Amino acid sequence: MKQMHSQAPSLRVALIGHSFMGTIHAQAWQSAPRFFELGLKPEVAVVCGRNDDAASVFATKFDIPQVENDWRKVVADPSVDVVDICTPGHLHSPIALAALAAGKHVLCEKPLSNSLGEAEEMTAAAEAAQERGIQSMVGYSYRRTPALAHARQLVSEGKIGRIFHIRAVYLQDWIVDEEFPLVWRLQREHAGSGALGDIGAHVVDLAQYLTGHHITGVSALTETFVKTRPLVASSDGLSATASDERGSVTVDDAAVFIARTDKGALATFEASRFATGRKNALRIEINGARGSLAFDFESMNELWVQDNTGSRASSGFSRILVTEPEHPYMDAWWPAGHGLGYEHTFVHEIADFVRNIAAGTQPSPSFRDGLAIQRVLAAVEASAQANAVWTATNYEF
Ligand SMILES: NC(=O)c1ccc[n+]([C@@H]2O[C@H](COP(=O)([O-])OP(=O)(O)OC[C@H]3O[C@@H](n4cnc5c(N)ncnc54)[C@H](O)[C@@H]3O)[C@@H](O)[C@H]2O)c1
Repeated sequence: MKQMHSQAPSLRVALIGHSFMGTIHAQAWQSAPRFFELGLKPEVAVVCGRNDDAASVFATKFDIPQVENDWRKVVADPSVDVVDICTPGHLHSPIALAALAAGKHVLCEKPLSNSLGEAEEMTAAAEAAQERGIQSMVGYSYRRTPALAHARQLVSEGKIGRIFHIRAVYLQDWIVDEEFPLVWRLQREHAGSGALGDIGAHVVDLAQYLTGHHITGVSALTETFVKTRPLVASSDGLSATASDERGSVTVDDAAVFIARTDKGALATFEASRFATGRKNALRIEINGARGSLAFDFESMNELWVQDNTGSRASSGFSRILVTEPEHPYMDAWWPAGHGLGYEHTFVHEIADFVRNIAAGTQPSPSFRDGLAIQRVLAAVEASAQANAVWTATNYEF
């Protein structure tokens, strides 16, 4: 394990939102400097939420000195260096634009925004701020799963060769119950889209990130299986209780689409919250001329690799347990075989973000990378509305 570093200058972080992502980010901000050499010492100095009592309970739990209920005040605070946006999607754009204008580094949860127009504006603001030494990054956290970071290395080293197929699904089942309440994720004005933007966005990001290909066009179908649900009485993270009134679900419950890439591969995608029995099955398989890769987040420490260059008699898929110190991020953690969990991907995300701030370099994924994903999401929605018409993403990167 690496040594700790107490003399690094501090980096004061404001966390906006303190539920599911707020909690995992708070933990990551605290863990990252304990396990990684960062060059700066981050501390969450402020937490902001809508409800003072809930935010105060959170602040006590994570030893955060200041609680606020107005994000505008937090973003304007001259003592804040970083704004970490862990709110629903409709607030990403206003908070990020205000924070960048105020000279704060910004970590914004995915998807970057609820619309293409917002994403374009955010990207322009981030790139202007970058010229003043202000960094920004989107929270596509699964990139920091060691097995997927290792998969990217294998692809970029040419081990998979020319890529023919990308096959990606992200499957959950937490709203199969028709009486599950109408949480913000099921409302277009808050979430932008449904399974598509919430979980489909992750596999679009991974498909492009792992292969270096970009999606140039799609043909898509989306469906809302349950059209009305009880309004929310109370909610916390992904759980909620129902009231007696009902309202309309205004986003997709599932999205399926096919795609072409700029380097000539065919890709298939599926994002669903109705895949009964699948809890967080983010799965991706890549088939190339020299071999294949396969990954399932429900076994996140494993990467399956097939080498197609040897004898056919011994060319099956092999399981790599991605826990050796030679694997990405793993030299900071436990002895080989003592696996990591979901929360570690966020520790890696924060560590990479802070190292880039310390070095004055652009972290990845940038807002422009986030915009590229929004173009795909927008094309999927347009194609689905036109009932699976082929729709270009207007790829221009
Ligand atoms: N990287 C990932 O894998 C991942 C996983 C889950 C969610 N997300 C993303 O993270 C974001 C938040 O999702 P979540 O699951 O944490 O949601 P959540 O409902 O659990 O939490 C949302 C938080 O935002 C706060 N909030 C809402 N309006 C606010 C306001 N006006 N001012 C201040 N705070 C406000 C709420 O109080 C709450 O604390 C979303 O963009 C989501 O897509 C990313």
